[in-house]
Amino acid sequence: MPPVTGYQEISLSAKILVVDDSQLLAKLVHEQLRREGYQVRVAHDGPTALEIAEAWEPDLVLLDVMMPGMDGFEVCRRMRQLEATADASIIMLTSMSSIADKTAGFEAGADDYITKPFEEAELKLRVAAQLRRKRMLAGQAGHELGRVITVFSLRGGAGCSSLAVNMAVGLTLMWDLPVVLFDLALPVGLCDVMLNLKPRYNLGDLAERSIDEIDADLIEGYLAQHETGLRFFGGSTDPAQSERVTDNLISYALGHLRENYAYIVVDTSHSFAPPVLAALDAADKILMPLTPDINSVRVGAASLKVFDSLGYPEDKTTLVLNWTFSKSGLATGRVEEVLHHPVEMVIPHAEGIWSEAINVGRPVITGDPESPLVAMLEDAVWRLSRPVDRRRRPAAPTRMWQRVTQRMKQRRERQAHK
Ligand SMILES: Nc1ncnc2c1ncn2[C@@H]1O[C@H](COP(=O)(O)OP(=O)(O)OP(=O)(O)O)[C@@H](O)[C@H]1O
Ligand SMILES: [Mg+2]
Repeated sequence: MPPVTGYQEISLSAKILVVDDSQLLAKLVHEQLRREGYQVRVAHDGPTALEIAEAWEPDLVLLDVMMPGMDGFEVCRRMRQLEATADASIIMLTSMSSIADKTAGFEAGADDYITKPFEEAELKLRVAAQLRRKRMLAGQAGHELGRVITVFSLRGGAGCSSLAVNMAVGLTLMWDLPVVLFDLALPVGLCDVMLNLKPRYNLGDLAERSIDEIDADLIEGYLAQHETGLRFFGGSTDPAQSERVTDNLISYALGHLRENYAYIVVDTSHSFAPPVLAALDAADKILMPLTPDINSVRVGAASLKVFDSLGYPEDKTTLVLNWTFSKSGLATGRVEEVLHHPVEMVIPHAEGIWSEAINVGRPVITGDPESPLVAMLEDAVWRLSRPVDRRRRPAAPTRMWQRVTQRMKQRRERQAHK
């Protein structure tokens, strides 16, 4: 028996299904996990994997992508439909490391991926991390906490506010769940104009209150309502008041909001000031827009270094390459190379569209859903969504949900024909 450490204690009896058409690799992984004290079973093809999964109800599935017959994406999708594995952790084992393939994995409902070849240590860590997460979620069963998405760039003008506004509106329209946009751009927030809203109270007013006065009801009273249903916590309009916004206040406010809202999108200012750090700490996901120029990339590298030293996991940060200018920018691959971090979203330059959206207070994502730009933003909203929302068909699917899932289906069909 292996020594019982904290992590292993958690997962001693966890059931893991290893699916790989390579007998050798499956055997190796089987051995490595068995030595860790897990119960392990192996399947060499999709249909067998589904059969075992249905009967055995594994806690975690390690799933190879490239298999003859039914590929890993398809197996993953089917497992999400099975009651036995709807909530299992699924880690894809992929020898392809392109963004498209990782994206396809997440779209199919995977929780994580490991790129082949991998080290035993990485496998064990990822498996343990997923099982811990699953336990944590089970502990909060029935009460899924809201997902905090903090939009941040150390450099101004990269598109933080545009991204925050559009993702917040998009999440509202995609899920028809309670969503808040929290404007933490200091000293003055500008999202109100982008939504054509005039909130009665804002963050500056909240900062006048003492921390022990603040509770969910009080915060609720500060929220304005957008026509899409999105709730909006307005940014400070007074630089003097904004100086009283503390990290404590932000942690409190976000803590309360995540109890009652499915998504909280936070727009931030371009510094590591304590309130911004509080929003970065609280984030489940950091969206970091960069423009495709060397200075933006340098500033991005500096930010990633800070995140690393704060102990944020690498996949907490999603890089967004935003072409705020039209020509002579750095290629996506080059940016990824310099930053050692994938770019998961590229926003093409759209002359006039973004500034016009700001001027008229109508977010781009509410525009013509047939346009490639809106479709791209909608797909990005899907990828930002909580697995718990993505996994199941909503009782009353929204138009956006229908469009996004339809596009995913078409992409799958195109891929199958290749
Ligand atoms: N893809 C794009 N194509 C063209 N213009 C864009 C694009 N994205 C953003 N813009 C424009 O760039 C400017 C900056 O965008 P935005 O205000 O969202 O960025 P920010 O990071 O919040 O800036 P700030 O420093 O003011 O906080 C705006 O005028 C916006 O219209
Ligand atoms: Mg801004």
